[in-house]
Amino acid sequence: MTFVIGIDSSTTATKAQLVDTAGRVVASVSSEYEYETPHPLWSEQSPELWWTATCRAVSGVMAEAAIPAEQVAAVGLTGQMHGLVLLDEKGRSLRPSILWNDQRTGAECDEIRDTIGKGRLIQITGNDALPGFTAPKILWVRNNEPEIFSRARQVLLPKDYVRLRLTGEYATDRAGGAGTILFDLEKRSWSAEVLEALDLDPSLFPPTYEGHEVTGTVTSAAAAATGLNVGTPVVAGAGDQAANGIAVGAIDPGVVGLSLGTSGVVFTATDSPAVEPEGRLHAFCHGVAERWHLMGVMLSAAGSFRWFRDTVAPDVEFADLAIGASDAPAGAEGLLFLPYLTGERTPHPDPLARGAFVGLTVRHELHHLTRSVLEGVSFGLRDSFELIRTAGGADPTQVRATGGGTRSPVWRQILADVLNTDLSTVSTAEGAAQGAAMLAAVGAGWFASAQDVSAAWLRVDSPASPGADTAVYNELYESYRELYPALQSTMHRLSS
Ligand code: XUL
Repeated sequence: MTFVIGIDSSTTATKAQLVDTAGRVVASVSSEYEYETPHPLWSEQSPELWWTATCRAVSGVMAEAAIPAEQVAAVGLTGQMHGLVLLDEKGRSLRPSILWNDQRTGAECDEIRDTIGKGRLIQITGNDALPGFTAPKILWVRNNEPEIFSRARQVLLPKDYVRLRLTGEYATDRAGGAGTILFDLEKRSWSAEVLEALDLDPSLFPPTYEGHEVTGTVTSAAAAATGLNVGTPVVAGAGDQAANGIAVGAIDPGVVGLSLGTSGVVFTATDSPAVEPEGRLHAFCHGVAERWHLMGVMLSAAGSFRWFRDTVAPDVEFADLAIGASDAPAGAEGLLFLPYLTGERTPHPDPLARGAFVGLTVRHELHHLTRSVLEGVSFGLRDSFELIRTAGGADPTQVRATGGGTRSPVWRQILADVLNTDLSTVSTAEGAAQGAAMLAAVGAGWFASAQDVSAAWLRVDSPASPGADTAVYNELYESYRELYPALQSTMHRLSS
């Protein structure tokens, strides 16, 4: 058997990736879907969409590679974290899934903090209650749709619904489990104290597994729908951020994964359950046994650049616009950009935070504004990087970047200068699916550990190193940090 498959059920598509024993992606198919916003702040998806897209994507890679199904040694799952899937006693979905980017649960976050205490909650789960996480969503259904809640017998995460359809088993991985904030971070299992305090029946929650452990095998119905072989093992896998961390080799402390997509994520592994005392970083179990991770999330990273391009220079290619930024000096002649265009999570968990240009003068031209956007996003990522440096207990030795934004050499250099660290890119287009495939390769017995598969498969490109602008950025970063506290009350007034 010479292949494994990683399946990523993301917010916009399910991607399947067929990978050979050398880590080469032999076939990759993506099947897209939408999410619904039936009310402002809501974000929902029908679980059936993930299953239909999984069938399309998996049968797509099998057809593209034209290999016999017996050649697939194992399947690994990953996907969007925190989404709530509620099932009845027959495993049927009771309502659309409430997704990670849904913001309706402010009152339930307060309810959780009031019941458990913010300090105790962070002590047990590693995290404060944020609307994105799963626990407040469960409470929201109980408070607002009691009839539906009374019929709920099982809580799953999005990728675990795909697992149920593939294997007939209820199970989740520990990275995903921790993202519910119903988990004891240190014990890597459901927290009896938190479940009891919130009056949630433990039988609602599935057994949990480490990322490489086999949680079940493909059923005959699933084999017919996907083209996989009956009995193919399915490993637990991991939430998308942990899976991406594995794909970029952020498995042991020291390597920091930086993902520069619409949102930006700064991710590091820890070898103990480290937490940021005020809960400004997310602290979850890693997809690797005996590892945890810390992560800062910026909501509009490359998303800020996209907004800027679409609004100010829609006819200019991203690459050309970014090259133009190098005509402006570091600091864009006194111009700073705040990237909170869709509110923020780290370091300011504030849905009402807003973006700003500060320091505009008549001398500023398009290239100054562009540079300032690239720099402002980089400063925001430095906020997460600094918190990780303090809370993670290990000084980062390398930053490995992925995501559309890192295609720009100008932006990569700005990031290396602002973070004052070497910054490499890695050649994994679909990081999360690759991470899931890597866990499947461990589960299939090809490798003894995630570290071993990473050493065999990962290719890291030569880095951008901090250059002459580092000192300028060090000074400017201090001014950047003053902006949010200075503007906070004005932002809140303007956005209400
Ligand atoms: C992680 C998070 C997102 C989702 C989206 O905390 O909310 O990365 O997993 O894919």
